[in-house]
Amino acid sequence: MGRRLEGKVALITGSTSGIGRATANLFASEEARVVVTGRRRDWGEMVVQEIQGAGGDAAYCQADLGTSQGVRNLVRFGMGVYGRLDILMNNAFANELGTAVELDEKDWDRSLAVMLKAPFIACQEAIPHMVRQGSGAIINVASVHGFLAGHRRLAYATAKAGLINMAKQLALDFGPSGIRANAICPGAIAVERSEQRYRDDPDLARRSAVVYPLRRVGRPIDVARAALYLASDESSFVTGTTIVVDGGMTCQLPDSLYGGFEEYFRQALAKEWGNKRDA
Ligand SMILES: NC(=O)c1ccc[n+]([C@@H]2O[C@H](COP(=O)([O-])OP(=O)(O)OC[C@H]3O[C@@H](n4cnc5c(N)ncnc54)[C@H](OP(=O)(O)O)[C@@H]3O)[C@@H](O)[C@H]2O)c1
Repeated sequence: MGRRLEGKVALITGSTSGIGRATANLFASEEARVVVTGRRRDWGEMVVQEIQGAGGDAAYCQADLGTSQGVRNLVRFGMGVYGRLDILMNNAFANELGTAVELDEKDWDRSLAVMLKAPFIACQEAIPHMVRQGSGAIINVASVHGFLAGHRRLAYATAKAGLINMAKQLALDFGPSGIRANAICPGAIAVERSEQRYRDDPDLARRSAVVYPLRRVGRPIDVARAALYLASDESSFVTGTTIVVDGGMTCQLPDSLYGGFEEYFRQALAKEWGNKRDA
């Protein structure tokens, strides 16, 4: 338990599970008072109990970020309970898979409402309070999908790219008011949602790890620690930037994924030319 967020109030969307839950616990352990939120009341209350059980301070607000009013009520709840807002972490997501042809218009709207419009509305509500306070830290949780494409993830990739640039725009517009805005791009992180997949396929973690130079998938705490840095005064000269927390997945050329690609090329050449080495 440290004091890196002493006196600060943090609102973390999507904190009923996964990265948000880990961040809520970490921030509270650094003496932030935390607004925990998500639609699942039982999970939200459990996170609050975890925090209080460890001696921290948190309050749960049930909110559906698919509606603007839900987002506005959430920020107002935080202000009502704690009277200030220092850290806004836009972390919730709704991921409808599909290509531009497959994706239903309603699915697109739902995804973009939670991932892109909700952060905009949350900023619109929260920033005036931060301006009055003369400080604030906004953290948009984007993804490596914000700068690289994956299969059938049109809505997700579009929203995540938007969150990266939204942070830059916020940094520019509100830097003079003492507000910093940054993005975090996680790679694959094993969260509660992915537990079943790892249980059904015990080899999945090992296979997934191959694409990471650090040879493991991420943990929620890996992202939470990056968020703690961006939320704390230790990053007081850091704004408009993106921290990639992906175990090195996106720092490599695709050919390195073959792992010992010299062998791959040797085999490909042998297939092409057989033993006719001088051909
Ligand atoms: N895990 C990964 O591999 C990974 C990789 C890259 C980026 N990320 C990003 O990290 C962030 C957190 O993801 P996670 O993996 O930790 O996922 P998660 O455990 O499934 O958490 C998602 C959170 O979003 C909330 N949420 C979803 N729809 C909502 C809605 N309509 N209204 C209010 N809350 C809503 C959920 O709460 P309720 O269900 O209680 O409403 C939940 O707390 C996301 O932005 C995601 O894109 C994750």
